[in-house]
Amino acid sequence: MTTSGTGKRVLLAKPRGYCAGVDRAVQTVEEALKLYGVPIYVRKQIVHNKHVVQTLEAKGAIFVEENEEVPEGATVIFSAHGVAPEVHEQAKQRSLKAIDATCPLVTKVHQEAKRFAAEDYDILLIGHEGHEEVIGTSGEAPEHIQLVDGPEDVDRITVRDPNKVVWLSQTTLSVDETMETVARLKKRLPMLESPPSDDICYATSNRQYVVKEIAAECDVVIVVGSRNSSNSVRLVEVALDAGARAGHLVDFADEIDDAWLAEARTVGLTSGASVPEDLVQEVLTHLAQRGFTDVEEVVTANERLTFSLPQELRRDMKAAE
Ligand code: F3S
Repeated sequence: MTTSGTGKRVLLAKPRGYCAGVDRAVQTVEEALKLYGVPIYVRKQIVHNKHVVQTLEAKGAIFVEENEEVPEGATVIFSAHGVAPEVHEQAKQRSLKAIDATCPLVTKVHQEAKRFAAEDYDILLIGHEGHEEVIGTSGEAPEHIQLVDGPEDVDRITVRDPNKVVWLSQTTLSVDETMETVARLKKRLPMLESPPSDDICYATSNRQYVVKEIAAECDVVIVVGSRNSSNSVRLVEVALDAGARAGHLVDFADEIDDAWLAEARTVGLTSGASVPEDLVQEVLTHLAQRGFTDVEEVVTANERLTFSLPQELRRDMKAAE
């Protein structure tokens, strides 16, 4: 993009930042605020990014942990990570107007879980314990689903019938670690079936792939993203595994410690799927002020996927026209 003579460069990964599911979820809150007025309640962080949540709060969104905190009859939006069926049920009981911003690629995993549970499979859900997406997916068929939190968890799995077992996964895991977990599971359960299509989503895989491409050339890789963002945390791990000499996760440019850059000639830069591009541009400015003015964008894929807004919101928008 730009060149100067400092010899200090930035390898800027692409794809980075917003995925189609995050874009849709953020737009859902923005459009709901415009259409219904303030306040709009949002159950859990709409996406796992501090800046996005603060920006929507400033516009009138109120973030809550559970439906009980939402006044009866009010509008509530469910986050991109998905919810268990009982959350929809609770919303009905409180007469809430619920808008579901669950990413369609998470919904796809919910459908798979329901289908395999209906066929009485044991489902091994690879994912991180306590993550909202895993809680939501498990809630579709709690009696059929067991969580496998990484390769070390494989030995404690027990199944009813080793010929009727399938694995599914959270959408934002490390691709390589998940394959390792599956390989270990297959050693124990040779008849283990795989999901009909990849559960780790295109955005997660694409962001990991490009980071792997640049990592070995980087003295340090900076990932813009929040600590509770699974896919952002994974990007740091993937960078380190792929040969980056150091890796750090930051929410904002001012969290970058000058000591990280002291000996560096090449900095890798990317961002998680819930991170607006503005924050990456602020990091680029911060780096340029420290001599990293030579920016090379490394592109390994072009993403064109978009999702339409939730049906219930589109219907109300149309009615208001
Ligand atoms: Fe959906 Fe993947 Fe983004 S599951 S929210 S497209 S990280």
